[in-house]
Amino acid sequence: MSNTIKRIGVMTSGGDSPGMNDAIRAVARSCAYYKIPCVGFYRGFQGMIEGDYVEMDARSVRNIISRGGTILKSARSKEFLTAEGRQKAADNLKKAEVDAMILIGGDGTFRGGKIFSEEHNIPVIGVPGTIDNDIFGTHYTIGYDTALNTVVDAIDKIRDTASSHNRLFFVEVMGRDAGFIALNSGVGAGAEEILLPEENLGLERLLVSLERSRNSGKMSSIVVVSEGDKIGKNVFELAEYVTKNLPDYDSKVTVLGHIQRGGSPSCFDRVLASRLCVKAVELLLEGKKDLMVGFVNNQIESCTLESALKEKHDINLDLLRISDILST
Ligand code: F6P
Repeated sequence: MSNTIKRIGVMTSGGDSPGMNDAIRAVARSCAYYKIPCVGFYRGFQGMIEGDYVEMDARSVRNIISRGGTILKSARSKEFLTAEGRQKAADNLKKAEVDAMILIGGDGTFRGGKIFSEEHNIPVIGVPGTIDNDIFGTHYTIGYDTALNTVVDAIDKIRDTASSHNRLFFVEVMGRDAGFIALNSGVGAGAEEILLPEENLGLERLLVSLERSRNSGKMSSIVVVSEGDKIGKNVFELAEYVTKNLPDYDSKVTVLGHIQRGGSPSCFDRVLASRLCVKAVELLLEGKKDLMVGFVNNQIESCTLESALKEKHDINLDLLRISDILST
């Protein structure tokens, strides 16, 4: 493997996701395998700006394979949005003799990485790590599978109590701009309705569907609501609206919140993070830059950061039809 890269830096940025530690581990271990020094920056771009980093060898990442969160911490850096902030980061990378970066995060992370690379000619490789799964160029992002399992497990528990009390539950899940978590957990947990940012199904349909559920003899109903659902009402307003229009329903609201971002990563996320990050290191050693690694049809592939940012990972709306059929 040809190699002009002398030292690789790694960081995690944006909303954390289960499996980020597996990604850091895979970067550090791959660097050790290829005998390239590795440096971990704390709190994403902010650590680069402040020169806050740690040398990492194969042993620095022992016993983190099963741990949620990120040992390198994460942040959304406002200072990095400025040219001055990015200049400080470039100066610090030079001081630390880091000549390439692996950036683990979502679209905000890749946007920052792309500008940084263009301004300072420092090769970067993006690794998609976010529970939202909203990144083009990969069918799965690191953390999405674990988050889905957390949500399905929580809804199963809610279903138990909903069923005991003949109640209707509105369950809000994460996904400000993307409904992957809502749609797949909704089907996986047998929700009666799923509300997404991608599609406005309308309030009327919600009432009709809930009435139909009740008339068909269902003992409980679950409506999964994505944070950014397109109807434009938050989960409490939706519950209020339904209670007003269908007063026989005893409605409750559960907001799952940040529980979805934590926990031990699923085996799927561990393997995904491992495969993506071995590839990320190898791409840098092959002299590649400004790419994102992705998981496409069970293969590890790469696309430009530009296309990852420009194009959209489309959600499979056919799952709404499947949900309709199965929630009969
Ligand atoms: O992007 C990941 C995500 O968890 C979104 O689903 C959610 O809307 C957002 O981050 C929450 O961000 P924060 O932790 O900053 O409140």
